[in-house]
This record gives sequence, C-alpha cells and structure tokens, in this order.
Amino acid sequence: MKDFRYQISPLPYDYSALEPIISKEILELHHDKHHQAYVDGANKALELLEKSREGLEINYKAVMRDLSFNLNGHLLHELYWQNMQPKQESNKPSEKVIKILNDNFGSYEAFKKEFTEAGKSVEGAGWVALMKDTSGKLIITQIQNHNLLGINGFIPILVNDVWEHSYYLDYKNDRATYLTNWWDIVNWNDIEKRI
Ligand SMILES: [Fe+2]
Repeated sequence: MKDFRYQISPLPYDYSALEPIISKEILELHHDKHHQAYVDGANKALELLEKSREGLEINYKAVMRDLSFNLNGHLLHELYWQNMQPKQESNKPSEKVIKILNDNFGSYEAFKKEFTEAGKSVEGAGWVALMKDTSGKLIITQIQNHNLLGINGFIPILVNDVWEHSYYLDYKNDRATYLTNWWDIVNWNDIEKRI
C-alpha cells in the first residue's frame, strides 16, 4: 500500500520575516509546535484506521473526529503560510483581483470590511476564509476550530487564523488589531494564483 502520511512544509520565509505584524516567537511556536501537532494528529488517526483494517478495535467516532479536526488544521495552516509575505508598504491586490472582488463584494473596501468583521466575530477558536466554488463565486465564511461550519464544494483561497495561538503573544486579547494589521502581510500574488 502507498504511504499517504502527511508532512509539514517548511515556511516559505524566515521566522522573523513577518515582523512587526507577527513576531518570530509566534511563528516558531505556531509552525513548529501547533501546526506540527495537527500533522501528527492526522497521521495518528490514519494509522489507527490502517490498524483497524487489520483487526484493532478502535472508537470510530473519536478517530473520525480527530481526523477531521487535525487534517483540516494541517491543510488550513499550509494555506495560511502561503497567504502571507513580508510587510509591504501600501499592500494591495492587482487590478485583476480587485475587479474579481468588486464583482463579488461590490468593492475591495467592502470585501476587506466583511473579512475583518467575520474574523473578529468567530466564536472561540477558528478561522475566517475567502472561499470559491467551481462557478467562480466567492464567499467569506467562518470556520470554528478547523472543521466546523464548512460549506461543501467551496475551496479556501485566503485564510486567516484567529486561534489565540496566532496572535496572543503579540496582541494579547486584541484580535481586532491583529486582523487589521494583517492586511499589510497578505500575499496578493499568491491569492491571484488561486482566485
Ligand atoms: Fe493556528
């Protein structure tokens, strides 16, 4: 059987590259500890499922829950790292991306406001995501934890992690300032490739 184990990708920049918006300390912990734990959790669930096919008794409900939580956590973090880049002065999308955002949200400013407000109002731990369906329609959604409130058929294009581990050391409980500052490090070239 082929080995389908998941692996964490290295960050596409240095740990200090997103300062002062996100500190080196946060990136080290977030990537090497938190993200790595989701990869390990997903692989552990897959391993238990493999063993169950050979006769091991497992709690399917718990293993399926762990697989969903950890694998979605891994995939969202892989995208999150790609979605960011070192701080840019007057960071903005290209005209092409702005046109797409205008078509879907009325204006770039309206899109930014909706994404920021959706992020601020995620209940507890979770994500805010710009998603696209196969027709090209864009929507902004909240994701609780890594896997709840998902909408089938939509794929994430731009995500921001609003778990406390992504901002607490720099911003304490001020998620709103993290969300506002974060626009300076969005990698619009990366978004354009997938939008
Ligand atoms: Fe995270």
